[in-house]
Amino acid sequence: MKDGQPSAIYLKDYQVPAFLIDKTELTFDLDESVTIVTSRLHMRRNPKSKFRTAPLVLDGGEDVKLIALAMDDYQLPPEEYRLRNHQIIITATADEFVLTCETLIEPQNNTRLEGLYRSSSMFCTQCEAEGFRHITYYLDRPDVMSVFTTTIIADGDKYPVLLSNGNEVSRSLNEEGKTVAVWHDPFPKPAYLFALVAGNLEVIEDQFTTLSNRAVTLKIFTESHNIDKVDYSMDALKRSMKWDEEKYGREYDLDIFMIVAVDDFNMGAMENKGLNVFNSSCLLASPKTTTDDGYQRVEAVVAHEYFHNWSGNRVTCRDWFQLSLKEGFTVFRDQQFSADMNSPVVKRVEDVSFLKTAQFAEDAGPMSHPVRPSSFIEISNFYTLTIYEKGSEIVRMIHTLLGEDSFRKGSDLYFERHDGQAVTCDDFVQAMQDASGIDLSQFKRWYSQAGTPRVEAVGSYDEVTKTYQLTLTQATPPTANQPTKLPLLMPIRVGLLDENGKALTSELNGKNDTSHVLTLNLSEQVFEFKQVDTAPIPSLLRGFSAPVKLSYDYTVEQLSILMSSDEDGFNRWNAAQELAVRELNTLISQARRGEVLSIESQLLLGFKALLDDQSLDKSMVSLILSLPSQAYLSEISEEVDPQAIKQARTYLKQLIARALEQEFANCYEANNVDVDYSPDAQQISQRQLKNAALSYWSETNSVAAERAVLSQFQSADNMTDQFSALSIAVNTTHPEFQSMLDSFYSQWSHEALVVNKWLMLIAAQEADNGLEQVKQLMQHDAFDLKNPNKVRAVLGGLGSSVSTFHNETGAGYAFLADQIIVLNKRNPQLASRLCTPLTRWRKMKPNLSVLMQKQLERILSEELSKDVFEVVSKSLA
Ligand code: PHE
Ligand code: ZN
Repeated sequence: MKDGQPSAIYLKDYQVPAFLIDKTELTFDLDESVTIVTSRLHMRRNPKSKFRTAPLVLDGGEDVKLIALAMDDYQLPPEEYRLRNHQIIITATADEFVLTCETLIEPQNNTRLEGLYRSSSMFCTQCEAEGFRHITYYLDRPDVMSVFTTTIIADGDKYPVLLSNGNEVSRSLNEEGKTVAVWHDPFPKPAYLFALVAGNLEVIEDQFTTLSNRAVTLKIFTESHNIDKVDYSMDALKRSMKWDEEKYGREYDLDIFMIVAVDDFNMGAMENKGLNVFNSSCLLASPKTTTDDGYQRVEAVVAHEYFHNWSGNRVTCRDWFQLSLKEGFTVFRDQQFSADMNSPVVKRVEDVSFLKTAQFAEDAGPMSHPVRPSSFIEISNFYTLTIYEKGSEIVRMIHTLLGEDSFRKGSDLYFERHDGQAVTCDDFVQAMQDASGIDLSQFKRWYSQAGTPRVEAVGSYDEVTKTYQLTLTQATPPTANQPTKLPLLMPIRVGLLDENGKALTSELNGKNDTSHVLTLNLSEQVFEFKQVDTAPIPSLLRGFSAPVKLSYDYTVEQLSILMSSDEDGFNRWNAAQELAVRELNTLISQARRGEVLSIESQLLLGFKALLDDQSLDKSMVSLILSLPSQAYLSEISEEVDPQAIKQARTYLKQLIARALEQEFANCYEANNVDVDYSPDAQQISQRQLKNAALSYWSETNSVAAERAVLSQFQSADNMTDQFSALSIAVNTTHPEFQSMLDSFYSQWSHEALVVNKWLMLIAAQEADNGLEQVKQLMQHDAFDLKNPNKVRAVLGGLGSSVSTFHNETGAGYAFLADQIIVLNKRNPQLASRLCTPLTRWRKMKPNLSVLMQKQLERILSEELSKDVFEVVSKSLA
């Protein structure tokens, strides 16, 4: 970092705003060369502020040029205000006034994709978290809520669609023949929820009638070539609206709800009031171009953004330290929704597997932070797995502790008490506590303590008294700036099984059941189960009732029993993973010692039984069959040896494939049925199992399997099957894989989202000339450095390739660092996210660790954005 170091801001320094903005009137004169923004802000001093004479300080950005500034129509001369660090400071103000401000911006040169920018032929905005200040000077903080009226002036031929939040109040032509559209949003909102879109777009329209019989118009806009891919999203939107009414009693509040798809977007999607803006990758879906996973993602993201209308917009965050207030709760809501739409167990396994892989790694690394952070340098860096996924787990624990009914009372109270307000995580917990009468004061530590707690369980059975004692101990390891931790309150769901896997009833706290929720809140605690007929096998942390690392010294036999018979589906999966992890760890150690790999796999019997049993849920079978990922095995390693992990996984997969070749072939054939594609749970699970079987079967490199892969690739009528076959071909170096890749590209070169999958697959490939191929990809016509989806496809793909990225020469790390340095200037948010694999350097085996560290130091010696500076400097600290 060359210039002065950017500094951190702290939660403890929070002050209410000195000024409020009751009304915000914005006028955008849109043009390809310069856009002029005029704002009229109806301001007054905040009666709640203790600083009665504080100066007015407005936030701006380096890309915003101030043209004129007036107070109550008096043009302020330069000596009556100061412009410093992109802020306007006015010392003398009345108690109430109208501030008029004219700024000039150049959206066409905005490569950060924050504020107003261009994507293909349209104008669009992204204002969360602090993007609005790149449009005009403002009190850009979420606790300043204002009623917005937006006037858009543009060439109506080029930009027939002109949108902003709320309702359209008028549309006319001005003297110059330009179109003037005026939008008004009656709900006060912070600037981060502002949105504007202008473009030549197609639309599909539908209707939803709310619980209280109000008709809401629904519109989804895309560029014309994509309008055939939004029917599924529209459907998902209607299902979300209905679900939120039934499950949470939340009704939509405006007369119109709009979604727009844009190609260039830093994140997944954005919940702007009445006008959601989506990364097209999270909105467009069609059978031929979208995989089943893609469909499920679209459904979840549409729901997530819609649910924000209440959890985020009607009740918003006081400050950005409270980000998880809206994100954790909304992720929990979208997870519940997806569980209700599909299979709850499958959804839970997918979510937990993601959490344990990615969030646990974050929580153990240099960017580890509490769900409510106490400081940050750049808020964009805190849209993390911890805020989102761990935040959701915290809400889930409240749900488990309170039970369905009290939880609903708590959420009703929260929405009623805080409607129209900007509040804190504490306010949320308080509403839950007040509605349920359950004391959550200790529970709140989950918001302030970082790190993944470890829970150890030890059991003992007394034959004579028929009691089973379970001793639980908890400890949270130190994390950055938090050396010591206090015990947390957490629900641990437990069941007991006999040696045949049958559920045992037991009595705990006067309750007889096969499943109990223990409340652990001390560092060590003993729970006594009575009337236990026989020495039990404990099934612990059912449904993953708390986001912890739980250990219990199971025998292989006990894990096999849990895997085949636990009534808790989640724990069946978990036991299988545990078994596989043990074997993989043995193999990883052998590989690290340079030994020949060899193991007698205990998984075979269980897997065979799974494949033979036609009655099981096919998704669950395929989840149990899939071995722990490279990323998960890295997360649980003390010292990460990527090559050894890869070798171990390949060895075990091939061993299973050879031993069960016939079973996999049969399973493939049995599930390779001809149906009209539909993304429903039943079909999805069948395709999932079929492709899991094909993936194993292909590991045998048998001619029959190779033929099946090629034929599925060529004849598939949907992207799930076609892309599965292609990935399998690439991963097993199928004799035809190169020509398959080529024909896939020529078939889909006109579909950007499919091309991105192709880019990713090639970049992630394990090949000797991997880096060469990545470099070529970045020169390919299909690549575009301006488009975050494409950058993520290629560089994200690269990051998951062991032979290319973790190459012992260090060339993979150096190449990624080069790209981060280039992107740091163009798009800091994107650049900062790409640093993640390098930030794990301390855990890597020594030679790789040094190579990564060097690249981080090289990045740090550049002139850096706050975004990249924060991540890289914290990683090296
Ligand atoms: N608030 C968005 C969501 O989670 C995410 C987002 C953050 C989008 C910042 C853009 C910028 O739904
Ligand atoms: Zn969100």
